[in-house]
Amino acid sequence: MPDHIYIKNKIKSFKKKIKIGSDKSISIRTILLASQAVGTSEISNLLESEDVLNTLKTVKKLGISYIKSGNVYKIQGMGLNGFNISKNTTINAGNSGTLARLILGLLVRAKFKIKLIGDESLSKRDFSRVIKPLRLFGADIKSRNNLLPIEISGTKYLRPITFDEKIGSAQVKSCIILSALNTPGITVINSKKSRNHTELMLKFLEYPIKIKKEKKIERISVRGLQQFKAFKYNVPGDISSSAFFIVLTLLSKKSEMIIKNVNVNKSRIGIVKILNKMNAKIRLKEVRNYNGEVIANIHVKSQNNLKSINCPENLNSSAIDEFLIIFLAAAKAKGVSQFKELGEMNKKESKRLDLGINFLKLIGIEVERYKDNIKIYGNPDLVLSKNFEIKNFLKDHRIFFLSCITALTLGGKWKIHDKKSANTSFPNFLKTLKILGAKTN
Ligand code: S3P
Repeated sequence: MPDHIYIKNKIKSFKKKIKIGSDKSISIRTILLASQAVGTSEISNLLESEDVLNTLKTVKKLGISYIKSGNVYKIQGMGLNGFNISKNTTINAGNSGTLARLILGLLVRAKFKIKLIGDESLSKRDFSRVIKPLRLFGADIKSRNNLLPIEISGTKYLRPITFDEKIGSAQVKSCIILSALNTPGITVINSKKSRNHTELMLKFLEYPIKIKKEKKIERISVRGLQQFKAFKYNVPGDISSSAFFIVLTLLSKKSEMIIKNVNVNKSRIGIVKILNKMNAKIRLKEVRNYNGEVIANIHVKSQNNLKSINCPENLNSSAIDEFLIIFLAAAKAKGVSQFKELGEMNKKESKRLDLGINFLKLIGIEVERYKDNIKIYGNPDLVLSKNFEIKNFLKDHRIFFLSCITALTLGGKWKIHDKKSANTSFPNFLKTLKILGAKTN
């Protein structure tokens, strides 16, 4: 099977109710926490994407067994630090920065040295952000230039830390929280705001974690070494996957879509806030609480009257994975949009800020860049008719999705490589497009 697709026609108008892939961040966290719980946890609707399957493989290598029965994964947790680790174990996080950073947190007390590796993209990403706090806990870490492969040796002599997390990275925050579970005493993180699924899940598990909201930071205190019981969790839809379908609907003619059961946790809905400021009329309906998270159905309609935005910087972290597709909306909006301090985008699966800018230029949009700030000169009349080929993007799934949505809404004849990259976060992406009537082959 070739690893590329062709898109030669725009999508026709559609009116549909769809389900989207389950949330990747939550899927990974349910597995990791289930591995530390006492007893058998039951996770339904787990996202079966590569990042999540690599999380299952990783905990299995560390001695945790699981079975799948129907739609439910039953994971046999052995309690805190219950991994059964053999000598010379290597774990492979594949493409997943979240898995790589969070699992290191659970290994601070490991009996033997563990080697962590990843794919080409992950091997280019910087791990100093987690190596620093892990060393403060007392773990011994070997890595050349803060890159993978990393060798971590745990210790019985862990000490709780107080750490100022200044990046606003949920991966760093979660790595520290997971280390704190295995460490005696109280660990404190003064954290710049970022997605908070780990904290919410621990609260739902009645784990002693305290969160104090201050002006710009959250002070998170975690008491270590407290066992918690196995749990049941039904994973909701992913707003980051929904984002591509939201913009597809906005930029298509006479179309409407409802996306069912999506996690709309405040720390994740920057995309909705940003697009609504641009005149999209996205509505969250049937809003309900679930185990500390918030779930809703997302209602969206075509909007050929998008306007530019001066994007408030405080929305950056809640839309960090969505900026590529937000840039496409800005490209079709009236006026000049501004986005600031997006350097973190270049630390993702690819250098996404650089690639995003190149992509916009490729489709004929004027972009100005100053450091990590950009201006996008929107063109509501933009229509494409040329041939486009998208390749060499380090198999970044979100660049693949962006290319497909651009082709389906703006036209042109497209050849898009690395189709398999969709499996990282949303294996049913092309099937879902097909349900809406898109032709890709
Ligand atoms: C994630 C956090 C974000 C995000 C990533 C998933 C998570 O990374 O970009 O796709 O599940 O914690 P950072 O925390 O490094 O910003």
